[in-house]
Amino acid sequence: MNTEKLLDALHTHGLYIWDDFLNAEEVEQLRAAIPENMKPAGIGREQRHHTNTTIRSDKIIWLERGKHPAIDDFFSRMAVIKNEVNRHFFLGLFEFEAHFARYDIGDFYQKHLDAFEGRSNRRLTVVMYLNEEWADEDGGEIVIYDHQDNHLHTLWPKAGRLLVFLSEEFPHEVLPTHRERYSIAGWFRVNGMRHDIVDPSR
Ligand code: OGA
Ligand code: MN
Repeated sequence: MNTEKLLDALHTHGLYIWDDFLNAEEVEQLRAAIPENMKPAGIGREQRHHTNTTIRSDKIIWLERGKHPAIDDFFSRMAVIKNEVNRHFFLGLFEFEAHFARYDIGDFYQKHLDAFEGRSNRRLTVVMYLNEEWADEDGGEIVIYDHQDNHLHTLWPKAGRLLVFLSEEFPHEVLPTHRERYSIAGWFRVNGMRHDIVDPSR
């Protein structure tokens, strides 16, 4: 895996769009690894976790190791990214967590930051797209902004594309999809105290 462009782009922009990160065959295998029993996604974590379908209406299931070779392979690739990013930026990335997401027709995710609610220690976000032959009229684009609300990117969720960005820097949203839409969203976290759980004053 050649991470040179990724490291360069993260350094300069804090964001990288890695097209053809996976080939069609690898995407197909990941699609086949998606379990049936996805559940409505929530917001926040642990006690603060709740579902709110006015904010997001996708269905998710967390990736687990040892369940499918394609999932294990994905974890291995993410470990390479973690090590390379740590080596170059001293981010101290520690844990990786990821879920499959399915957006049914009409589903969306309103503008949000990945690293805020519940103080989750998320530092780096990845989104892996698993949809062959996405077209303009299919909707479901991810739209990325900066903190001043300037528009930065509008991207199709097309097969093989991996989006990588600093979790705290880029508000983003998923526009309503007109076609069933699959992705993996993942986060590298730093190892820190879980304030949301241990500190009752928050
Ligand atoms: C998320 C997310 C984006 C996408 O799950 O936090 O922003 O394009 N997903 O699926
Ligand atoms: Mn997000």
